[in-house]
Amino acid sequence: MSEHERLVSAGLVENEDDVRDLSLRPRTFKQYIGQKMLKKELAVYIEAAKKRKEALDHVLLYGPPGLGKTTLAMVIANELQVKIKTTSGPAIERPGDLVALLNELEAGDVLFIDEIHRLPKIVEEILYSAMEDFFVDIVIGQGPTAHPVHFTLPPFTLIGATTRAGLLSAPLRDRFGIIAHMNYYSKKELERIVERSAKIFKTTITSEGAEKVALRSRGTPRVANRLFRRIRDFAEVAQKEVVDEKIVTSSLDMLRVDECGLDETDRKLLLTMINLYDGGPVGVNTLAANIGEDVETITDMIEPYLLQSGFIKRTPRGRIATKTAYEHLGISFTENKN
Ligand SMILES: Nc1ncnc2c1ncn2[C@@H]1O[C@H](COP(=O)(O)OP(=O)(O)O)[C@@H](O)[C@H]1O
Ligand SMILES: [Mg+2]
Repeated sequence: MSEHERLVSAGLVENEDDVRDLSLRPRTFKQYIGQKMLKKELAVYIEAAKKRKEALDHVLLYGPPGLGKTTLAMVIANELQVKIKTTSGPAIERPGDLVALLNELEAGDVLFIDEIHRLPKIVEEILYSAMEDFFVDIVIGQGPTAHPVHFTLPPFTLIGATTRAGLLSAPLRDRFGIIAHMNYYSKKELERIVERSAKIFKTTITSEGAEKVALRSRGTPRVANRLFRRIRDFAEVAQKEVVDEKIVTSSLDMLRVDECGLDETDRKLLLTMINLYDGGPVGVNTLAANIGEDVETITDMIEPYLLQSGFIKRTPRGRIATKTAYEHLGISFTENKN
């Protein structure tokens, strides 16, 4: 991934920026901006669980990358005043790996599994009884020494995160008592996120400046923070004390992030659909081959925002570029072409 692509892509997994900027991560519901309905709902369940001195019901968070799923999992644990153990689907290769993690939990703790749709099937099956009745049965050893072992577990909360809930098997999905869909953030919310980050970085940004960043952040806090960091670098080099609209706009132009937040990859995808396939319908595999990205990158990272902002549509025969896409790219659109 080039620097440009990396900038606007929200990233599929925990990325270096987030790790480097742990300070930017909200720790409480109060600091966690947006997702108002969801926060309100979760606050009720958390309070109830605390009152009953029980573990919170299992939570599934799903939505596009960079919307704050990992952050929210940490906020939930913090609000519950319990410890959180973090892992990811692909990291748990064998049932034994999961048992080792579960073994370290104390009553009420949170186990966070990122990218839970990528759990191997044999591990997922062990999770069923762990989630439902807090026990696991596994076979230890091989061949003649193999023997079944029964572990009882303390009551715990599993928080799973996924970019696509549709990829989760029904039995796993059904075991989550709380299923939360994360929404893209409004311009106002992103402005507040940028202003909060500016404050943490001890940088002054004007409200017009913050608004401009928000407009190009494709509804995603991770993108907003990343753009803000780059703009801050430009301001620093230009010896600007205050990050204003002008420096924001010139930096973002330099980064080739357009007014709608689209980057080179987004534009390449749209242009391929328009120029090579007359606007579609075109299958995602074909598109992937054409722009040199893998299918998962397109479906999980590039497409969700293009769909949400009406640049493309999904049809049973493939993706089509909308009139909005043509207009955005300055290409004339003939009605009834699709
Ligand atoms: N609601 C929010 N308020 C403020 N900052 C947020 C919020 N959600 C996410 N962020 C910021 O965006 C970054 C990406 O969030 P993260 O939880 O890693 O997203 P996801 O796990 O959904 O990919 C975090 O490091 C955090 O700084
Ligand atoms: Mg995450």
